[in-house]
Amino acid sequence: MKEMRILATITALVLITYYGIEPYAHHIMHPEPAPADYKFSDLKNVKKVKGNAVNGKTLVEANCVACHSIESAGFAKMMPDADAAASYGVVPPDLSTAGKIYETNYLANFIYDPVVATHLSHKYSAESGKTYPMPAYNWMSSQEIMDIVAYLQQVAATVKVDVADEASIEEQLKAQHRDTFVNACGRCHSMAYAGWSALTPSDVLKEHMGAAAPDLSQYIKSRGEHYLHSFINDPQNLLHGTSMPRVGLTEEAQEDVITYMEEIGDSKKADRESLGWKVMLYMLVFALLALAWKKEIWKEVH
Ligand code: HEC
Ligand code: HEC
Repeated sequence: MKEMRILATITALVLITYYGIEPYAHHIMHPEPAPADYKFSDLKNVKKVKGNAVNGKTLVEANCVACHSIESAGFAKMMPDADAAASYGVVPPDLSTAGKIYETNYLANFIYDPVVATHLSHKYSAESGKTYPMPAYNWMSSQEIMDIVAYLQQVAATVKVDVADEASIEEQLKAQHRDTFVNACGRCHSMAYAGWSALTPSDVLKEHMGAAAPDLSQYIKSRGEHYLHSFINDPQNLLHGTSMPRVGLTEEAQEDVITYMEEIGDSKKADRESLGWKVMLYMLVFALLALAWKKEIWKEVH
């Protein structure tokens, strides 16, 4: 039948465009970003060292709590955020969950040398005249660094998300996504759609980092989750020379952050996806009706 051949030709052309030409063109114009790699290199060869949390606590008290609060372990902020921003250029994050959200090697590397770990050597160097706001603890032994990591992991294991006792599982998960975002990104980035303002005022951050950190409310839509997974894990791969630091999150923590961006920026995604098959079904029913109607009308001619 003639109509069937026309239909088959159109279907074949659509399929070739959809599965052949479009992905090929897309691949050439926007190469797939490298997938996130959660096995951060072991700069200081700490893998074989077993940390001692008791000694870690002493080291953290002596070296870290002058700048960082660890609310869940009873170390309060030394100064209000506005003063901290003015002193350091970025508000130092609370470290209550650091032992959970950062991958172990990354956390050790970061304490050892934050500029190398964050891939920001092009921003903070002798030539640029800028220094990273946190000192490198490269004078510590691998044992001491792992002691600190062990202590931070011990603290993080006891932290509970801040929700009402009667909160449902779904509400608890949402609160966890929010907390991970706040701890990992919230000192630099705002999320206006969720009422979150970055802890560091944007003009201070811009002056310090050389670029403003954008509000992330709509980035799930403009960049998509594949880009975000790869970007957070290593921004230099996608935006060479950017000021955005590498944030060495664990796979779970990164999933939390991106899910949060989706909950805030694209809350209708599930509705949209569940509507898709209903629309297809509706079109199929109407196509069948149209076919039956056409047969009825042309019956006498054929
Ligand atoms: C002089 C103040 C200062 C001291 C001391 C200090 N920090 Fe920091 N720390 C900062 C600032 C400021 C930032 C945020 C820097 C940024 O994001 O640009 C930071 C960031 C961090 C982060 C976040 C890492 C990331 O990738 O986002 C961790 C973890 C951390 N510090 C742990 C520590 C530990 C552990 C110690 C003690 C061994 C310590 N800090 C000592 C100021 C300090
Ligand atoms: C120490 C501050 C800081 C932290 C922490 C930080 N960012 Fe950024 N981020 C920046 C800055 C500054 C830029 C702008 C970079 C530029 O313009 O080169 C940026 C840019 C971005 C962009 C825009 C990328 C694009 O394609 O334009 C995204 C998305 C992003 N950050 C996500 C995150 C997420 C998610 C986190 C937490 C896991 C995070 N950032 C943590 C400072 C930060």
